[in-house]
Amino acid sequence: MPRRGGPVQKRSIPNVQKVLAVASGKGGVGKSTVAVNLAFSLALKQHGQSNQRLRVGILDLDIFGPSVPTLMGLQNSDEPELTSGGALLPIVNHGLPTMSMGYLLPKSGDDASRADAAVVWRGLMVQKAVQQLLFDVDWRDAAQNHGLDILVIDMPPGTGDVPLTLGQLVNVDGTVIVSTPQDVALADVRRGISMFRKVSVPITGTMLNQAYFVCSSCSAPHQLFGSPDAFRMTAHKLGVDVLGELPLVKGVSSGGDNGIPYALSCSERQTKEDGAGGAVWRNVMADAAAKVYDALFKDTL
Ligand SMILES: Nc1ncnc2c1ncn2[C@@H]1O[C@H](COP(=O)(O)OP(=O)(O)OP(=O)(O)O)[C@@H](O)[C@H]1O
Ligand SMILES: [Mg+2]
Repeated sequence: MPRRGGPVQKRSIPNVQKVLAVASGKGGVGKSTVAVNLAFSLALKQHGQSNQRLRVGILDLDIFGPSVPTLMGLQNSDEPELTSGGALLPIVNHGLPTMSMGYLLPKSGDDASRADAAVVWRGLMVQKAVQQLLFDVDWRDAAQNHGLDILVIDMPPGTGDVPLTLGQLVNVDGTVIVSTPQDVALADVRRGISMFRKVSVPITGTMLNQAYFVCSSCSAPHQLFGSPDAFRMTAHKLGVDVLGELPLVKGVSSGGDNGIPYALSCSERQTKEDGAGGAVWRNVMADAAAKVYDALFKDTL
């Protein structure tokens, strides 16, 4: 937060090499789904010339509507443990460490889940929670030897306090802006990009989500939400790369609901069920992960 007496110095997140935010100006366009699947696609990649896989973590900064716990199958997990120094320990599933406001809410209801818990905070409390999630998580592995190569941050929708706080407090290495093809979403893409640029956060590129649907009977792409031309033109005008155009795929949505991200599970059997669209989605996501990796590490490889 800006204080009187000059701008705050941007800081690094402890034990994290590169920070990648996944954001959008508009809600419900598939940020969280893209964030989690991009994280897995990155984690399947090797780091440079080494035969080590990238170590990737996911931070959910959506304080009011956290979806990472559900997308990761962790909605019933216990509260995170603390290190002796008081840092939060990430909760791991499918091999990826994660942290979310969703893990910190009290469990309630018959099924003892947090599904209905609501955060009714404002201003300073939100800022405090964001700062704790950013700086007070110990991302090192269990042996405490390795931190993360990449932390993927799932942002809340819009251009409110949280993305501003992130941009002002943290050295962010890249941002992926997610959009759908409709005009209303595009206006928000422009707003989102302009906000990140104002706080000097580099934009890695945009992803067009739900760009089309490939039906199993004719295998032709159906542009349910309109042509991608306006999106491509907007990206071009703003000087931002298009990292990929993802189709609508049933398994992507059901995988999210079941806590098994599609990038992990899109085996041939499932891809068959989803028709050609499943395979296209997987390739587009892998390709986007490769571009993001190259952009993040271009100076060090
Ligand atoms: N490519 C896709 N194919 C099918 N379903 C998708 C796809 N992308 C997203 N969805 C579905 O769309 C819904 C919204 O996605 P998601 O929660 O990721 O959006 P969001 O932008 O993070 O929303 P919010 O702004 O509320 O945080 C989810 O049910 C998700 O499963
Ligand atoms: Mg979300």
